[in-house]
Amino acid sequence: MSGWRLKPRLALCLADFEVLRVIRNECREYMTNFQGEITEGQQEAYFHSYDSYRTRHYIYSYRGEDVAFSVIRTTDSGTEAIVTFGIAEKWRGQGLGWDLCKMALMAAGLPIVGDRFVSNKRVAIIDDTCGYRAIGPPNEDGIEPVECPWPPPFVEMQTQQQVYDEIVRYHRYGEKES
Ligand SMILES: CC(C)(COP(=O)(O)OP(=O)(O)OC[C@H]1O[C@@H](n2cnc3c(N)ncnc32)[C@H](O)[C@@H]1OP(=O)(O)O)[C@@H](O)C(=O)NCCC(=O)NCCS
Repeated sequence: MSGWRLKPRLALCLADFEVLRVIRNECREYMTNFQGEITEGQQEAYFHSYDSYRTRHYIYSYRGEDVAFSVIRTTDSGTEAIVTFGIAEKWRGQGLGWDLCKMALMAAGLPIVGDRFVSNKRVAIIDDTCGYRAIGPPNEDGIEPVECPWPPPFVEMQTQQQVYDEIVRYHRYGEKES
């Protein structure tokens, strides 16, 4: 048992991008860059043209159903990531947002920069608890800039030496020290 309720997979085929499109459209009013409805045709064109070196798309299932998505995009400088995520409407309010935000942050692998609507209280609660913080005042549209360090504070990182010591202990005593 992993402790995670959501099961992520990398979206690689057109069928996955269609699943992602439907969930994303349900979240579009919370998107700070483009809130329009994305059509099937537009998504297919995007699938054939996006830069897979810079952008990764994930779909998350819960009890066998695809319920959420995330998109992780590296900035032009290559030193930061922009993370977008959302859950299909009927699956919100069950705590799945916590899993989604944490998994997306861990997969980012880079410090995160982005923005959010100040009015999006649900995402602010999750984001701030996971390590995001607002870094400036909101603009006239009520959008505030945010950032999150990497690794995010909820991830405990070990140094190479600690990992090495643990391996040595494991081989010497046959068990892990907790
Ligand atoms: C943001 C989002 C992922 C959060 O997921 P969720 O399933 O709705 O939220 P959760 O059930 O995990 O709850 C997270 C917290 O939000 C708050 N919350 C939950 N439902 C709420 C509601 N109806 N109204 C206000 N706050 C609520 C609670 O404080 C909750 O914390 P708790 O579980 O400790 O009580 C989801 O609402 C969503 O997809 N929104 C649209 C897309 C979006 O905003 N994306 C972020 C910008 S990229």
